[in-house]
Amino acid sequence: MTILLSITGFEPTRWLKALSDHAPQRSILLHPENVHDPLIEYAVVWNQPPGLLTGLPNLKAIFSIGAGVDHVLKDKTLPDVPIVRIVAEDLTTRMSEYVVWRVLDHMRRGLPYRAQQDAVHWRARRRQPKASEVTVGIMGFGEMGRDAARKLQGLGFSVAGWGRSPKTASGIQTFAGEAELDGFLAVSDIVVCLLPLTDETRGILNYGLFARMKKQTPMGGPVLINAGRGRLQVEADILRALDEKILSEVSLDVFEREPLPPASPLWKHPRVFITPHVAAVSEPEALAPLIIGQIDAFERGEPLRHTVDRQTGY
Ligand code: NDP
Ligand code: OXD
Repeated sequence: MTILLSITGFEPTRWLKALSDHAPQRSILLHPENVHDPLIEYAVVWNQPPGLLTGLPNLKAIFSIGAGVDHVLKDKTLPDVPIVRIVAEDLTTRMSEYVVWRVLDHMRRGLPYRAQQDAVHWRARRRQPKASEVTVGIMGFGEMGRDAARKLQGLGFSVAGWGRSPKTASGIQTFAGEAELDGFLAVSDIVVCLLPLTDETRGILNYGLFARMKKQTPMGGPVLINAGRGRLQVEADILRALDEKILSEVSLDVFEREPLPPASPLWKHPRVFITPHVAAVSEPEALAPLIIGQIDAFERGEPLRHTVDRQTGY
């Protein structure tokens, strides 16, 4: 009946309260308190210290408080119990809002207009693309990618989706695997990356891929938006592609190292927009009831949902 909560990188108090509020009959231990308690049956984690869960004799499942699980799987000593990730309307909607915001901002030239405002400079750009002239390609056509695609379609954008396995989606051009990546890049004016970080996807956003992107788009050149994971991208290659005008603009929510080091040239680059890994924030009040609901259902004998395949890493 005991749940271990281990969060590294931000304040865990709201998660502790939300889990306790929804499971008043359970004991919830906050790491580092009493982590060897043999009664621990479930772990709720973000970036848990490697080895923390090893050797908990009664552990039955591990819950990530986010959609991604690379932060869980990087511990190579994890016990062989199911790992559950978050799939929730609350989180997915937040990601779609981020994607729509960044796509519209790039399309409507938000970055140069901000720079003009800083310089107190009035210059109207008369070439104004509209949504129906722009194709947004989504790399990672999963829970979040498909929702963002629907919302972009609703605004009039053409949308393409790329994933590992073939999919169909109404009104969307879909592509799968390395064999169809060029076809996907050939139609995408703005590439939005919502891939998970796995052995296959690490470093996929590199100079070689940027060189395969469209040369001409309604915004001038292609735009890259990455809200998947920082290690999907090679930051030196992004800077090179920006400088060579292979990429016209970039929005990054995630970074190779977080926090992004103050010395990174990305901070001050006029064609880069940065947010600090907040594209979709896991709100404890919205997500804790889903985790507790899964534990309750599991104890009634129902299967866990949204479990992770350790072979593919997502
Ligand atoms: P899903 O697992 O639902 O979707 C993942 C998608 O990526 C699937 O379409 C999958 O293909 C595709 N994919 C995986 N591996 C490959 C590959 N090698 N080649 C091509 N496509 C691949 O994940 P979610 O949509 O729920 O979340 C996506 C990611 O978003 C998370 O893993 C996390 O890293 C990130 N995230 C970031 C947040 C932020 O605030 N920045 C917040 C929340 C999530 P297929 O459909 O064939 O399986
Ligand atoms: C997630 C995240 O994976 O917040 O949910 O990055």
